[in-house]
Amino acid sequence: MSEENRVMGIDIGGTGVKAALVDTQNGTMTSERVRLPTPQPATPAAVMEAIKELQRQLQWQGTVGCGFPGLVKSGRVQRAPNLDSSWIGYDLAGQLQAQLGAPRVAIGNDADAAGLAEFRFGAGRGAGGTVLVITLGTGIGSAIFRDGVLLPDTELGHLAMHGKVAEKWAAASIRTNKDLSWKKWARRLNDYLVHVEYLLGVDLFIIGGGVSKKPAKFFPYLQGVGGRVEAARLGNAAGIIGAALFPLR
Ligand code: BGC
Repeated sequence: MSEENRVMGIDIGGTGVKAALVDTQNGTMTSERVRLPTPQPATPAAVMEAIKELQRQLQWQGTVGCGFPGLVKSGRVQRAPNLDSSWIGYDLAGQLQAQLGAPRVAIGNDADAAGLAEFRFGAGRGAGGTVLVITLGTGIGSAIFRDGVLLPDTELGHLAMHGKVAEKWAAASIRTNKDLSWKKWARRLNDYLVHVEYLLGVDLFIIGGGVSKKPAKFFPYLQGVGGRVEAARLGNAAGIIGAALFPLR
């Protein structure tokens, strides 16, 4: 593997900040996956310290790609629903470059990162039509592909459902926080997917996030969803692997 194909992928999440070195040619991690809990409050300065610590652990000085759980435009954070409000306006790309001393930095939405990884190396490989990658974690993230082309920055976790924002009703965190059975939670997820499929005519749903490792617990309850529904193949690693693909775009 040539060194220029290696990128440090960072996945900033609501509960954990994770990173690894990634071979961007074949979508595999070439280091261990390192993780720190997301600091509370999750301010930019505190999260940046965690990222610096992960960089130290990986002993990396090269290119960096980072997935962020919200909307980033031109390197700056526009919205960060599950982190501290002080992120709004933060120059994430500039700060990563300055604080990590990285030669090149590229950032994007965390679900788009997971989607890119699944599309290139996982369950979406070679799929045509409308493919929707849904990540289930603290919130709900979305990445839409039409014939292999990503429409970035969609926020389908924020659709209104039952008088609530959908992610406050069906994210994986709601199952644990509200102590819902898998069945109860999966029925919520099912309604959400049915709604989204109606709006977008999805051919293939790829369900990502930590729960994608346990499809047997909830896939049996996903009934009536038009289109195929598959579990993400890269599991939680998709966010890191996809983030490492951002500098290639
Ligand atoms: C954010 C999305 C993000 C998702 C998963 C949502 O609350 O609005 O941008 O992709 O959480 O982290």
